[in-house]
Amino acid sequence: MTIQWFPGHMAKAIRLIKESLNQVDVVIELVDARIPESSRNPVLDETVTDQPRVLVLMKPDMADPNVTKQWLQHYRDLGQTALTIDAKKNIGISELIAAVTELAEPKMEKLRKKGIQHRSVRAMIVGIPNVGKSTLINRLVGKNQATTGNKPGVTRKNQWLKVGKKLELLDTPGILWPKFEDQTVGLRLAATGAIKDERLDFSDVVLYLIRYMKEYYPKSLLERYKLQEEPEHDVGWFEEIGRKRGCLMGGGDIDFDATAELILREYRSEKLGRISLERPEQ
Ligand code: G4P
Repeated sequence: MTIQWFPGHMAKAIRLIKESLNQVDVVIELVDARIPESSRNPVLDETVTDQPRVLVLMKPDMADPNVTKQWLQHYRDLGQTALTIDAKKNIGISELIAAVTELAEPKMEKLRKKGIQHRSVRAMIVGIPNVGKSTLINRLVGKNQATTGNKPGVTRKNQWLKVGKKLELLDTPGILWPKFEDQTVGLRLAATGAIKDERLDFSDVVLYLIRYMKEYYPKSLLERYKLQEEPEHDVGWFEEIGRKRGCLMGGGDIDFDATAELILREYRSEKLGRISLERPEQ
């Protein structure tokens, strides 16, 4: 399977982010905790050169907690500010606000020296589709937040949302396209639901998932599908699981497509457990 993205989309997305960048003090980059590197776009490193960045691993409730710990350590070792937010349960929000405030402090100090005393810190959220941008914005600004309206120097489409008294957030998140020249990255994005399903061949994605889980989470697969032992070949997993779950075609043959769809649905709804598909040492 070849998963592709159109370069035109990427160029437009980056242009839009660049247009907003000169209005913000800090960039909040969201990634999926299950695949923190694959859900990043390296182009952002070249785009955001002047603003400090905080990296937020979203959906940590779906990721393997031990692997998430390793990722946080990995990013901190690289000198980056990294944290997790479970936007569904509202965990990690105050840590994010504290991190953004701290990162903006040198700029705020400069402004204060120039006599600008009470300016809020301005931030924008960026990330690939489905990573949780809107959910996080809603969490940060609260339900009944009215926008503060346009301000001089802000393009008309952008508005600022107040987060407490000292932080403002651009209401339009920057949408980044995932970058997947590497097909494994594409498969990871597909497995986690970052790529629209109509573009996908489920069997390829699930084959990748099975191979990965066989290596790192074999018990989860065996227990979920009540298999006595690991099937010898990758296709054997499909057959065993399909049979167990009654994904059969007329004549009793295994319906591979239905089996793949079932496994993928169960992975995405955490029925296979909290599974990360990428590790720092890889
Ligand atoms: P986007 O703006 O970046 O495209 O993403 P959006 O906020 O729409 O979130 C995409 C999906 O991810 C939503 O699920 C949202 O609930 C879920 N999500 C966001 N943050 C978290 C998190 O920290 N943990 C978990 N488990 N899920 C998160 P959905 O299925 O599209 O909708 P629904 O479940 O909210 O109905």
